Amino acid sequence: MIPYKTAIIRVFSGTGNSHRVAAWLAEVARGRGVEVSNEGIGPEVRKSGSPEVENSESPDSGAGNEKTLLALVFPTHAFTAPWRVVRYACGLPRGNGAHAVVVATRAGLKFGPVFTPGMEGTGAYLIALILRLKGYRIRGVCGVDMPSNWIASHWGLHRSTAEPIVARSRRVATRFGQRVLDGGRAFPIGGMVELLLGLVLAPISFLYLIQGRFFLAKLFFADNRCTGCGLCAASCPVQAITMWGKRPYWSFACESCMRCMAFCPTKAVESGHSLGILYFLLTAPLFVWGMNELVTHFPSLAWALDPENSTWIFILANWAFSLIALGLAYLVLTVLLRVRAINALFAYTTLTRYWRRYHEPDTVVKDLVPPKAG
Ligand SMILES: Cc1cc2nc3c(=O)[nH]c(=O)nc-3n(C[C@H](O)[C@H](O)[C@H](O)COP(=O)(O)O)c2cc1C
Ligand code: SF4
Ligand code: SF4
Repeated sequence: MIPYKTAIIRVFSGTGNSHRVAAWLAEVARGRGVEVSNEGIGPEVRKSGSPEVENSESPDSGAGNEKTLLALVFPTHAFTAPWRVVRYACGLPRGNGAHAVVVATRAGLKFGPVFTPGMEGTGAYLIALILRLKGYRIRGVCGVDMPSNWIASHWGLHRSTAEPIVARSRRVATRFGQRVLDGGRAFPIGGMVELLLGLVLAPISFLYLIQGRFFLAKLFFADNRCTGCGLCAASCPVQAITMWGKRPYWSFACESCMRCMAFCPTKAVESGHSLGILYFLLTAPLFVWGMNELVTHFPSLAWALDPENSTWIFILANWAFSLIALGLAYLVLTVLLRVRAINALFAYTTLTRYWRRYHEPDTVVKDLVPPKAG
């Protein structure tokens, strides 16, 4: 007997890796006669909770129904789940006993004949925990090593390296899918090790969520090769890009998923390494100056702003200041980057200018962007 009637697959994917894994799970399900709904986690969630799971095909519509399997598939970011996915899981309706599985894709690499695994850390189990607390019964948790897509921090893998990693992962994901769709449970032992490592690395994940991702968002800029086609803005999964006079502007909503960078037709999207250094050089003295000014004008704040007396207030002030300074600096830079010479200066002093881009070898951007309704 087929244990499931319906499989609801929801995927967040930057460069197609998680999209591909979701497609493999869908293939296994369809092969067993299971009805599949395989869709991206839509951008509208950012503004208004999770409307798409409140429609008729939500797991809730089969409340308490073990015939429905929900699968969440997403990439690992900084040893945990992207913030967008955490929000999505929190916004899901109650599971009432519906079954669920969680799959985190991660950065696999290959050196000669040796495949090295990525590290999903707390990502998969964090989402599994949220779903459990919402009343879902977790039937499996899995990490799948797809080619690393963090092309802001390293050159993109060549197709000839990526393809064997993808082929290997296909076997892992398919075995996982077969097991859970045949009614079994799948909690590979490696996932537990990952979880333990993830807990050790949790401070890094936390720092990334509250600070790192905002900083990375403000490193993006379009170099002089940008044609103003608007593809980056139209295809961003969280609508983080606005076109300002034919040039993209990256907001703090960016999840650093790398889609805009991977699919820009002219390879114009850069992550500004030299920009990062400039931010640091500008904001560090500005911070010291700002703190001194505050204390001079409001002496009563001196005690609270002294890190030795009140570490938390100091940290909070530091955090708020750095985000405000970053936002303002980026606004100024957006204007300055219109000057071709300044743009070229930043473009040629950033490593991404010379790096290959990566996206899942068989994925085109249209696969990741659902057609607009109507
Ligand atoms: C900002 C960022 C952070 C990442 N952090 C990790 C990580 O901590 N561990 C890991 O194994 N992979 C990490 N990766 C790699 C991706 O999780 C991996 O390549 C994933 O398969 C990408 O899937 P997607 O194409 O569906 O977005 C990171 C990628 C990005 C862009
Ligand atoms: S996709 Fe590339 S060329 Fe098109 S607007 Fe964005 S940065 Fe410019
Ligand atoms: S702006 Fe680019 S990197 Fe950021 S979420 Fe959108 S597509 Fe991904």
